[in-house]
Amino acid sequence: MKALEWQGDHLLLLDQTKLPFEEKYREARSYLEVAEAIKNMEVRGAPAIGVSAAYGYVLGALKYEGDKDDFPEYMNEVLTTLQATRPTAVNLTWALHKMEVKLREVQNLDPEDIKEALLAEANSIAEADRRMNRLIGEYGNTIVPEKANILTHCNAGSLATVEYGTALGVIRQAFEAGKKIHVYVDETRPFLQGARLTVWEMLQEGIPHTLITDSTAGYLMQQGKVDMVLVGADRIAANGDTANKIGTYSLAVLANAHQIPFYVAAPSTTVDLKISSGAEIPVEERDGKEVRMFKGVRVVPEEVPVYNPSFDVTPAKYITGIITEKGIISPPYSVNLVKMLVK
Ligand code: MRU
Repeated sequence: MKALEWQGDHLLLLDQTKLPFEEKYREARSYLEVAEAIKNMEVRGAPAIGVSAAYGYVLGALKYEGDKDDFPEYMNEVLTTLQATRPTAVNLTWALHKMEVKLREVQNLDPEDIKEALLAEANSIAEADRRMNRLIGEYGNTIVPEKANILTHCNAGSLATVEYGTALGVIRQAFEAGKKIHVYVDETRPFLQGARLTVWEMLQEGIPHTLITDSTAGYLMQQGKVDMVLVGADRIAANGDTANKIGTYSLAVLANAHQIPFYVAAPSTTVDLKISSGAEIPVEERDGKEVRMFKGVRVVPEEVPVYNPSFDVTPAKYITGIITEKGIISPPYSVNLVKMLVK
């Protein structure tokens, strides 16, 4: 169940737009193909798009046939194209920055050595993601009760990362530890990451779950049927404000009103200390057709105006804790996030 895998000379991507009924793969052989796959959400989820972009950068270098002197400018174009695919998840910016720094470091080597060094860097970004997810799972498991109904939104699982997942990594770990957990999965309109992807992952591992429409969450909480909310993140500002899939903010407010703990699980690569608060997080707005159409079938007339932001920002005050690979961060985030990052 891998979202992506480097296969010698190309990046194999599981096309997540076709799940759960079709397991179709794309062999991306150029940086433009990787950019297209990220844009179309064939590969999605903050860590997965970061790692894919890093391999896209490698493909850009591998395919270069021009003059040595023009190489830096060309690689700049590769970076800009990959960067422009999706604006919210900072993991994309982070991974591309690491690749750019590596290129600067090795730019005077022979072309073959440059390519090798870039591939090694992308592999190490992917490996770090695997490692961080396992640790997030371990730390997160410590706060999951022996018996719990956990509500999650979108897909922060294996499909959204290189392996294992962040929020779903915690859930996996708790399940493997023998805890009696049950997961409420928000369907996550309009792209249905919950219904199509999270449920797919839960089914494969036999983790007890129930699919709900997004608007059912409040009613469930009111009935005392949710013990904790656990979500992923696309960008965490220095003060702890967190961007995640649209609908996350509503869940956080509801959880607060019902005194239910609300946890974010994310690697430190999702933290953006350059921005002081969530107000500065760029929120992607996607095409209205994602809302007007359902599986290729029009459900709303074409002329209906649609507002389709892909993410929202949850203020830090609603977040009980942020589960990272370095431990669980508690408020005040403006102090504790920095402490965690320099650890
Ligand atoms: O639009 P998507 O599917 O890329 O959005 C994904 C999310 O919002 C996830 O919760 C987030 O990226 C964390 S994935 C570990």
